[in-house]
Amino acid sequence: MKERLVGGALMLAIVGSALFIAAYVSGGARIYEGLALALTAGALSAAAAGWALWLLPDERVADRIVTYPSRAAERRAQRGEFRTGVRAISRSRAVVRLLYAALGACAAALVVPFRSLGPAPGDALFHTRWRKGARLARGDGRAVRVDDLEIDSALTVFPADALGDPQSQAMLLRVPERLAPATRGYMVYSKLCTHAGCPVALYRAAAKELMCPCHQSVFNVLDNGAVVAGPADHALPRLPIEIAQDGTLIATSDFPQPVGPSFWERG
Ligand code: FES
Repeated sequence: MKERLVGGALMLAIVGSALFIAAYVSGGARIYEGLALALTAGALSAAAAGWALWLLPDERVADRIVTYPSRAAERRAQRGEFRTGVRAISRSRAVVRLLYAALGACAAALVVPFRSLGPAPGDALFHTRWRKGARLARGDGRAVRVDDLEIDSALTVFPADALGDPQSQAMLLRVPERLAPATRGYMVYSKLCTHAGCPVALYRAAAKELMCPCHQSVFNVLDNGAVVAGPADHALPRLPIEIAQDGTLIATSDFPQPVGPSFWERG
């Protein structure tokens, strides 16, 4: 009877796991997935408790060594004990098989949700849409020309073929030409703060610093975006640019470092 109760609990755990998988695959309401998981966990807990209380032996057995040959009556008695023991062993094996089946069903129920993880990110965290020859464009798609910006002003730009791409957003600045003569004073930094990814949208022209409004990290634009203050722990990546023959500004490559906050793959 006690083995049947434990077996019944294990069967319930198998049914609960199957119901969870069915609810998950059919895309049903979360409530059914939760109820099925609760049934599985409750049934497994009950089976474990029953197993510990009723099926595990709690007696100490000492086996007496008998000198053979034994008498016929003793041999008959031993054969009887052996038969009883075989029945007990076979019942236990059935419950053990049920236990393995229940654990396998639970494992399957836990593995199935991994389908929701989606495609692997690949190297998307290391690159943006900037590449050699990509034209700098405003959010509305207009290209930026070399005479468009006043000195000490700033503008948000994107690659012309990836307008609005959050990873690629960048701040175009114009400082006095003597500070960046190769690009007539233009320089471009990633707009993603290296602390927690907020947009670094404030340009303090007098100090030549970019500031993140979220936690006040400050970056020196004349020192390759080095951190001046705040919780950010590494420099703002700078995009290499040049002036094309038609007077527009273009990138000469992607950012040399991954943009945005630190993540565990970064060396
Ligand atoms: S996100 Fe920029 S300082 Fe925290």
